[in-house]
Amino acid sequence: MGEPERLHVPVLLDEVLAGLRLAPGQNVVDGTVGMGGHARGILERTAPDGRLLGIDRDPNALAVAAEELAEFGSRAVLRRGEFRHLGEIVAEAGLGRVDGVLLDLGVSSLQLDRPERGFSFQEEGPLDMRMDPSAPLTAEEIVNQWPADELADLIYAYGEERHSRRVARAIVAARPLRTTGELARAVSRAVGGRSGGIHPATRTFQALRIAVNAELESLEEVLPQAVALLRPGGRLAVIAFHSLEDRIVKQFMAREARDCICPPRLPVCVCGHQATLRPVTRKPLRATEAEVARNPRSRSARLRIAERLEAQEGAQESES
Ligand SMILES: C[S@@+](CC[C@H](N)C(=O)[O-])C[C@H]1O[C@@H](n2cnc3c(N)ncnc32)[C@H](O)[C@@H]1O
Repeated sequence: MGEPERLHVPVLLDEVLAGLRLAPGQNVVDGTVGMGGHARGILERTAPDGRLLGIDRDPNALAVAAEELAEFGSRAVLRRGEFRHLGEIVAEAGLGRVDGVLLDLGVSSLQLDRPERGFSFQEEGPLDMRMDPSAPLTAEEIVNQWPADELADLIYAYGEERHSRRVARAIVAARPLRTTGELARAVSRAVGGRSGGIHPATRTFQALRIAVNAELESLEEVLPQAVALLRPGGRLAVIAFHSLEDRIVKQFMAREARDCICPPRLPVCVCGHQATLRPVTRKPLRATEAEVARNPRSRSARLRIAERLEAQEGAQESES
């Protein structure tokens, strides 16, 4: 028997490990531990005694991560949870301030490749799309119960689909829709063949997945908590896979790099905001051609890194 086949190839692994500037003994939070690919690299770089807290809302991912990281013993601690509660989860695990936080957003190949999870338009499966299988909202509910105009707004906002109204009308006309295949065919009939080289249902599936998992709201909520957890000099690394989430990360890092965030028309600062981050990457890091050839899912990945600044004299504790 050779090497066990890795279920998931971590994206931008070398760039993440270098960007976090890891050293022996450091403690790191991986808010999206998935199957533990990045976590393994982090634990190797922080040996012999650095600790890693790995969080995921998908119990299947955590079971895989537990096996993948078993050799690191008590250095790897895993918790099931939503990263929008990052501060609480870390406090409950007793970790205190940490040297690094990683967020590798979106779905894993474990989720995408399992037809029964309902994420893929290339496989026949139920219209589920929940990362946390115990969460109340499924794609089936949105697809079959939302009014056409709300569905169209969702597909436009989260899928950036130009033909959102046409797609929404086609979905409503095809109800009830029970499987990913039925939905993909209804969308394809509405928008025709491939647009820009992607499957016609790509944008609609992306929109539904973002809504089912409240992905953008969670991201907005986790970023300030991640900064609050970092010790000065600690680093935050975020990998985004589409422009909506990358924009949130970019704007957050830009805002936190500024001392004043008052509107420019105000003659004097009234916000009292003080910078908490120093950007490490001016432009997002992208996968090399070689990585994209090895792992096509890395094609859309964008990695941004920022470093926690020392708290300034008189700065409010809530932001530090
Ligand atoms: C791209 S995968 C991470 C892969 C991981 N870095 C690895 O190397 O194996 C993203 C993971 O984050 C989890 N996830 C996404 N959003 C989450 C959230 N808001 N809270 C907790 N976990 C989340 C997903 O369930 C998925 O397992």
